[in-house]
Amino acid sequence: MHGRYYSWMIFISAVVLIVFIVMFVRGEMSPQWKSHQLKYRDLAIENSRDAESKKAAMSMDIELRQLYLGGLKRVDRCTTCHLGVENPAMEKMPLPLKSHSGPYLKDHPSAKFGCTVCHNGQGRAVDMNNAHGLGHEVHWDLPILPLKFIQSSCASCHDPDMLKDNGGGNVAKGELLFRERGCKGCHKLEGVGGVIGKPLDGVGSQPVAYFPMRNIQGEKTVYAWMKEHFDDPRNVVATSEMKSDFTDEETDALTTYVLSLHLDEIPKKYRRLGKGQGIPDTGEYLYKMYCGACHASGADSVYDEVFKRTIPAIRNPSFLKAVDRKYLKTIIEQGRAGTQMTAWKSAAAGLTDAQIENIVDYISQDKPATPSVMFGCGPYKPNVQNGQDLFRVRCVSCHGNKGQGGVGLNLRNPVVQKEASVEFLATTLRDGREGTHMASFGPDGAGLSDENIADIVAYVKTLSTNK
Ligand code: HEC
Ligand code: HEC
Ligand code: HEC
Ligand code: HEC
Ligand code: HEC
Ligand code: HEC
Repeated sequence: MHGRYYSWMIFISAVVLIVFIVMFVRGEMSPQWKSHQLKYRDLAIENSRDAESKKAAMSMDIELRQLYLGGLKRVDRCTTCHLGVENPAMEKMPLPLKSHSGPYLKDHPSAKFGCTVCHNGQGRAVDMNNAHGLGHEVHWDLPILPLKFIQSSCASCHDPDMLKDNGGGNVAKGELLFRERGCKGCHKLEGVGGVIGKPLDGVGSQPVAYFPMRNIQGEKTVYAWMKEHFDDPRNVVATSEMKSDFTDEETDALTTYVLSLHLDEIPKKYRRLGKGQGIPDTGEYLYKMYCGACHASGADSVYDEVFKRTIPAIRNPSFLKAVDRKYLKTIIEQGRAGTQMTAWKSAAAGLTDAQIENIVDYISQDKPATPSVMFGCGPYKPNVQNGQDLFRVRCVSCHGNKGQGGVGLNLRNPVVQKEASVEFLATTLRDGREGTHMASFGPDGAGLSDENIADIVAYVKTLSTNK
């Protein structure tokens, strides 16, 4: 009885095992690529233009193809399926058999460049999901680039300047936006820029795991992260202080450019870098690159909902009238600790002294010819306690109960405390700043006496030592 039962069990197990082995062997023997090659051979015979190419097509071997690219340290097997890339007769065929579009492979023959230098993907793999690096829980770090971002790879070997009119218009546009829309106001690149965000050198070759993917809607790739992050930074990183106000087309271009920021991987002999474009060093251009993202044109004082503080109007004549050149330069060099205003001096953000001078010139362009009549607090012996009492009533609603700023500026920071003169502070208080929330507190405004203003200034100067 038992003997028969066991025989049956052994028989069934053996059958199951054989079925599995047959399935496995068949899968290995006729993988996806084989059917692509058989189809390609039929099409090549059908479409051959003369007897010779017909003969060649008929004797085509069905086998793995590989491009061995020693100089680039790659082996690309993409042509195992993408058989027709360099065969013009395959122009109208479906993927993956069709000929490559555009002039790309004429300028970059597959035998020398392969495919993954431009497309990414996993060169050695021969089934589609693995080769394209997609369709897994965790993606290959560099899955094939969506075609709309493909120009990012051109920039690893060519200058945006050259690419602009030679098939890389999109990445060149991204690079221009990067400069002119003020990304370097918050990010360093090659050692120069603000510090609110991280340096961006190499960010295009960071692994998938580096990026917080939780809120990404599409495929969880670095490409999708970049695009969605530019579309809406706070949807991707809830606490982000990043600014991004771009059209869909612009975010595509920016994504393409930022993905090109690799740390040097491509050997020199494969690259064609020129001298790079001369980036203008004028005050106006530097202002755009480093200040514009936050200060915009500099004409308006704007409360920033994300920073939770005001970005002041630094080209406002009523500010320029009261500020002297030396102090203005000091603010820019040292920044304003405790706020988003970066220290721009060369030891911090990397601007040279000459560049800062150029920026000061540019900001001061609209400085009124007649400066403010400065108010030096005259003969008054300040009463700090009275100053504090008045500050509580008149100032904390905007400048915060510790002077930390909010709607008003941060008055605790070292620049105001150590570098701002009593004259500058008292004059600002007396006259206010036209066109901003900083009203005049002097006789022409809220009506505080000169003596009271002197008391408040004396108190303001003690803020950094008050807890
Ligand atoms: C096993 C066969 C196979 C291999 C190997 C393969 N591909 Fe493909 N590829 C396909 C097929 C099939 C398509 C079209 C269908 C699709 O994408 O769903 C395609 C489409 C593409 C596309 C077009 C995508 C688009 O958005 O239109 C690109 C680009 C591409 N492959 C690049 C590569 C690169 C680069 C490699 C090597 C790393 C590679 N492929 C290896 C089969 C393959
Ligand atoms: C010099 C860069 C470069 C190289 C090298 C390159 N491609 Fe492309 N490839 C492109 C660009 C750019 C496009 C987009 C063309 C377009 O949108 O007009 C593209 C498009 C494609 C497409 C989409 C279909 C099409 O042709 O429009 C496939 C598939 C593809 N490439 C496969 C390959 C394969 C396989 C190789 C390797 C033999 C390869 N490419 C090498 C730049 C390159
Ligand atoms: C791996 C580096 C590399 C990548 C990636 C690359 N190129 Fe090139 N490209 C070269 C080199 C090297 C040459 C010169 C070819 C030669 O002389 O053999 C060249 C030649 C060219 C030319 C011909 C004009 C000239 O200066 O010789 C154009 C146009 C061009 N590339 C555009 C592109 C575009 C567009 C892309 C992206 C789709 C791209 N390249 C991607 C390295 C690259
Ligand atoms: C007002 C400051 C600010 C500006 C302007 C700004 N960023 Fe950012 N950026 C940030 C901050 C803060 C983060 C970190 C939080 C986050 O990921 O959103 C960040 C993150 C990034 C990241 C991810 C970097 C990493 O290592 O995680 C990229 C890429 C990026 N920014 C690119 C740009 C580009 C390109 C521009 C110009 C269009 C730009 N940023 C403008 C503040 C800024
Ligand atoms: C990331 C945003 C950001 C960038 C970029 C930035 N600033 Fe500022 N800036 C601020 C904020 C916020 C304040 C107000 C700080 C405070 O509350 O004390 C400020 C204050 C200033 C002030 C003080 C104005 C006053 O009323 O005393 C000057 C001057 C200034 N910035 C100049 C510049 C210049 C020049 C650049 C470019 C080189 C620049 N800023 C870049 C955010 C920025
Ligand atoms: C209604 C809001 C508001 C009130 C109230 C207010 N301020 Fe201001 N204050 C501001 C704003 C906004 C700015 C920046 C304006 C600009 O240039 O864009 C400013 C700028 C200043 C500055 C210039 C700081 C610098 O570094 O350049 C000083 C000093 C100052 N306020 C002191 C005071 C004092 C003292 C009081 C109370 C007597 C006061 N403020 C009341 C909103 C206010």
